[in-house]
Amino acid sequence: MKIMICPDASHARTLAARILSDQIREKPASVLGLATGRTMEAIYSLLAERSRHDEIDFSAVTTFNLDEYAGLHAGHDQSYRYYMRKHLFDHVNIAPDRTHVPDGSAADVEAEAVSYENRIAAAGGIDLQLLGLGENGHIGFNEPLSSLSSRTRVVTLAQATLEQNAVMFGGDPGRVPTRALTMGTGTILDSRKVLLVVTGSKKADITARVIEGPVSALVPGSALQFHPHCLVILDNAAASGL
Ligand code: GLP
Repeated sequence: MKIMICPDASHARTLAARILSDQIREKPASVLGLATGRTMEAIYSLLAERSRHDEIDFSAVTTFNLDEYAGLHAGHDQSYRYYMRKHLFDHVNIAPDRTHVPDGSAADVEAEAVSYENRIAAAGGIDLQLLGLGENGHIGFNEPLSSLSSRTRVVTLAQATLEQNAVMFGGDPGRVPTRALTMGTGTILDSRKVLLVVTGSKKADITARVIEGPVSALVPGSALQFHPHCLVILDNAAASGL
């Protein structure tokens, strides 16, 4: 792992956006793995701004999102497909058929998970996977005790995740879907490069466990220690437990 510590969250986001932009410039037909969550919003806003100024061209880019809530249709305002349209896809010149988010409303979500994994492989795999970190150490929706070699599948969300994400569902953890489709930890580790972005003091302890702790299924993000090209961007607050 290579760790870069920025003075604050704004610098961390700017650096992450620059790395993504450089990836697209160096390989216009990049396959990007994308993440959701509050950490990513400002990064996507910076990418949208660069695209508006013609500094990056998404026309040949293909994207695969990490995860999606099971049971939410693409138009639901808390679905990750909706999030991606709102924060990125509607603001850049990417062809809709090049954007992939697991279909949480599929009649057979298990089959959708298998098909999603196959679609990633058919696209040639992921060049650069952008990741955030859950407060319990999850990456994508790979919750503690997920197999470190797991593939895209349907999972049950941890109570901690329901609580962390409740704010997006009117503050009520009971309204957060309890299941999701997620790329597996093994799927994520297959990406050629990984960019993990973590900000804020609330994640200081888990960040230290991800980077410095033993590799353990209890902390799914710790599996990234095995990745040969994993860059971690932190702000000072998230790095304060290192
Ligand atoms: C969700 C997503 C994760 C993301 C995490 C962190 O649970 N499934 O992929 O990393 O949120 O979110 P935030 O950036 O809002 O802390």
